[in-house]
Amino acid sequence: MISLDLKNIYPFIEDKEFDAFLSRAGESLKLLHSGAGKGNDYLGWLNLPEETDKKLLGAINELAKEFRNETELLVVIGIGGSYLGTRAVGDALNHSFSHLLPDSKPQLIFAGQNLSQDYLYELVEVLENKTYGIIVISKSGTTTEPALAFRILKQHLERKIGKAASRKKILAITDSSKGALRKMADEENYRSFIIPDDVGGRFSVLSPVGLVPLGLSGVDIHELMRGAAEMAEKSGPSIQIKENLPALYAAARNALYNKGKLIELLVNYEPGLHYFSEWWKQLFGESEGKENKGIFPASVDFTTDLHSMGQYLQEGKRVLFETVISVRENKHSLLVPEDDNDLDGLNYISSKPVSEVNKMAELGTLLAHLDGGVPNIRLFVNKLDAFHLGQMIYFFEKACAISGYILGVNPFDQPGVEAYKRNMFALLGKPGYEKESEKIKKHIRN
Ligand code: PA5
Repeated sequence: MISLDLKNIYPFIEDKEFDAFLSRAGESLKLLHSGAGKGNDYLGWLNLPEETDKKLLGAINELAKEFRNETELLVVIGIGGSYLGTRAVGDALNHSFSHLLPDSKPQLIFAGQNLSQDYLYELVEVLENKTYGIIVISKSGTTTEPALAFRILKQHLERKIGKAASRKKILAITDSSKGALRKMADEENYRSFIIPDDVGGRFSVLSPVGLVPLGLSGVDIHELMRGAAEMAEKSGPSIQIKENLPALYAAARNALYNKGKLIELLVNYEPGLHYFSEWWKQLFGESEGKENKGIFPASVDFTTDLHSMGQYLQEGKRVLFETVISVRENKHSLLVPEDDNDLDGLNYISSKPVSEVNKMAELGTLLAHLDGGVPNIRLFVNKLDAFHLGQMIYFFEKACAISGYILGVNPFDQPGVEAYKRNMFALLGKPGYEKESEKIKKHIRN
């Protein structure tokens, strides 16, 4: 099991303050499981680990065999919740240089997560000389970024291998009945998977949204779900609140927020976790940032960012706290070699594992930041494998829901993300946006 260490919040809050938030976390946990809280139409993610049909996992494994032999690249098209979870797990589990290893296929590459002309052009250039398939993911089936990327790549694939063959290389993951992607999948006869109605985008990585691309790229999705199921079991409403990890984390971060710590930095010391932090930022940012409330979720990759953000973190505005993901075991072993001349002066650490140097950097930084007025929460993970990633995903999802309820917001909606879309559609002349268009014209004239 992953574990938590909260002792470094106590210089900043009193025991009784934490206990008050823990009791609110307990109430929020009960509310969540009762299904009577805000956004209760979107609680399907709670039961995904337990309810996901083994047949679905088997079908994904069968597809993986088919794609493995014939496909060098899998282009995963999606944005936000239809992108970040897959990228997070894939990057954490795969070889850091898998794109340079000839035998690891199919490789996941991503599109539809931006509107960059150069990105799409260069992607098409690369795909020209590769065998590839497309997994297009969109719950609404109407999001501009993935729709545009899919239009371009679908036409490219059809030109390259023909319409009939490309049908076998395209998988669609979308709603069971609504949206343009569902219509297209049905009309074009693409194989498709359904995103359950009651699972929102940023809570969907353990649904076909994440399981299909991850399974096809060789991730052990059974282990991923087993880890998540274990965390689900250990964080149910009958588990003692002081033993309930998501509730403890939710209480700690809200207690710190209440003390003016408005920004939470998710810290990692493993580059493979960079996208895990991106996934986490979306999860908490979209779930909590509303009604003029919410902890601002940010992230840093250490030790890299100690050489860019370290100064601010140590001595800048004291509104920060850190949640540090501490990985206990590395996948590989590597010792610092002895050097006869020692010109670089590193013999004092020779024969030590590189991981020990990294660990000492972690401890040294924690202490320095604590002295500098930055409290921290530590999350210990034994190793970065599918099982522990499953635990971490479910842990953060549940903590996020509990935390949103403590704040008093609906953690499952995102009304604010529509504002830019309305302006963009009006500026592009999309039918139905004439009123916004007038407003924008007036704004530009002024
Ligand atoms: O969390 C969310 O709901 C969003 O981030 C969506 O996942 C994102 O906007 C993509 O939406 P869709 O899957 O409908 O294309």
